[in-house]
Amino acid sequence: MLRKKLIAGNWKMNGLLSDGQKLAKQIAVEVKALKPACDVLVCPPFTLLTTVKKALRGSKVMLGAQDCHVEEKGAHTGDISPVQLKDAGCDYVILGHSERRADHGETNALVKAKAQAALEAGLKVIICVGETLQERESGKALEVVEKQVKASLPNNATASTVVIAYEPVWAIGTGKTATPTDAEEVHAHIRKVLVHKTGKIVASRMKILYGGSMKPANAAELLSQPDIDGGLIGGASLKAEDFIAIVNKAK
Ligand code: PGA
Repeated sequence: MLRKKLIAGNWKMNGLLSDGQKLAKQIAVEVKALKPACDVLVCPPFTLLTTVKKALRGSKVMLGAQDCHVEEKGAHTGDISPVQLKDAGCDYVILGHSERRADHGETNALVKAKAQAALEAGLKVIICVGETLQERESGKALEVVEKQVKASLPNNATASTVVIAYEPVWAIGTGKTATPTDAEEVHAHIRKVLVHKTGKIVASRMKILYGGSMKPANAAELLSQPDIDGGLIGGASLKAEDFIAIVNKAK
């Protein structure tokens, strides 16, 4: 298989220790029993990383965080470094999520610097891109996403260390999903951009996830598109049953 699918849960700022442990255990048990065709990743908030890591022990479910700082250590109150995430047992870190771009003014240049720091720390990265509703309605979706991919991708991107997530901002947490055709159009465009940035071989192997109100009812159709290589799931990743239902649709 050229690109094994990846189903990643983005828990965002949700969950206390007991919830996180329970959810992670349920996912771990199900994944162990089902042996899905795809890779599975959960990205809890920082406070749950250690607890979730323990709950996932013995399963193939991977652990990720939702952001990191550029520096390895130092005077950055409230921040977490990629080295600390690696030390906590993380495999992945999500970077440049639209909520971070909007709430914390993260720029493409910062996302790229964070990605490079995370790769150096031995983490894999999921770089998020996506247009707003206004940008889509003015016909600029492809242009905006292309610019984000070009400027956020780390220099040393490889297909085994970098994943792109296309998440139209208007579809996140809204219940509105891009149609499979519209999503595929953007994914195929991202792949073309990657050919220029990384060369044909890396571009053909790099995973491009879709995110934005993916749920059991729409996952199969989205995941059957030729350039959709998995999902970054927010709301539906907080219920083990829904998350596992999506995992089962990723063939
Ligand atoms: P959603 O979030 O599935 O709740 O729309 C996806 C994301 O923001 O990663």
